[in-house]
Amino acid sequence: MKSGLFNLSGKTALVTGGSRGIGLAVAKGLAQNGAGVAIIARDKDRLQAAKQQIQECSDKKVWIFSFDLGDTKGIEALFKDIISETGRIDILINCAGTTARAPAEDVDLEAWNQVMQVNLTAAFVISQAFCRHRKQLNKAGRIINIGSLMCQGARPTTVAYASSKGGLLMLTKSLAVEWAKYNINVNAIGPGFIATDLTAKLQADEDFNRWVLSKTPLERWGQPGDIVGTAVFLASSASDFVTGQIVYVDGGWLAAL
Ligand SMILES: NC(=O)c1ccc[n+]([C@@H]2O[C@H](COP(=O)([O-])OP(=O)(O)OC[C@H]3O[C@@H](n4cnc5c(N)ncnc54)[C@H](OP(=O)(O)O)[C@@H]3O)[C@@H](O)[C@H]2O)c1
Repeated sequence: MKSGLFNLSGKTALVTGGSRGIGLAVAKGLAQNGAGVAIIARDKDRLQAAKQQIQECSDKKVWIFSFDLGDTKGIEALFKDIISETGRIDILINCAGTTARAPAEDVDLEAWNQVMQVNLTAAFVISQAFCRHRKQLNKAGRIINIGSLMCQGARPTTVAYASSKGGLLMLTKSLAVEWAKYNINVNAIGPGFIATDLTAKLQADEDFNRWVLSKTPLERWGQPGDIVGTAVFLASSASDFVTGQIVYVDGGWLAAL
């Protein structure tokens, strides 16, 4: 085995949704393995706090960008700003995500569009900017999309979220196939139920909590840190021949009947 397979020294990663939850854990993990990190989210105070946390656990450079990824038309200009500050981006993690829970027949179009814009369209548009950037440098790159168990299956009241994550899986495969010629590997991670702000209400719901524990062979909620190892693997040369895949980090959920 080559040594330093997971070493990200000299790389810079861009993590959307890197100010808290899974994105922050991944940003920290990438920095601890040697990468500088740029993070995007809306809330400026949380971005500042995240920057401090990443710097407390690594000596790597951290850049923060406050931006609403629902504004998909503004992403190209944002990406140019990011490149002018960071110099280059080698690894893109599309992690920002949102949800809108309601019976399918009651979901209004505004809520549907917001979920699609943030979870799917923004990931596509920023990936396009990233690909053009890597092509210009004539360098390989890595894209990691944060999917969900809902890349695979559905639950009532999550039609917009599940549709966006199903789309994200096909985006992963499509870009992997098309951009292999540029040596851009595109993969996804499908987290199971992870204890973050996004799932705070679900964790507090006793019935839901019992259901999650009963469906998860490892009998616990995942923690944001559970996603880090797979993200570092997919960002590093340890996964040079892996593209177009989704790795489920779900405590065994999808393996169980
Ligand atoms: N938690 C789970 O159980 C779970 C399971 C499967 C998949 N996932 C996926 O994992 C990803 C992260 O989830 P999480 O649980 O860590 O969520 P979280 O704790 O709610 O964090 C979401 C992150 O995305 C950012 N964000 C949300 N909307 C944004 C927007 N419009 N523009 C820019 N940034 C935005 C948030 O920052 P601001 O609010 O400041 O913008 C925050 O940094 C999502 O794609 C989610 O679908 C989560």
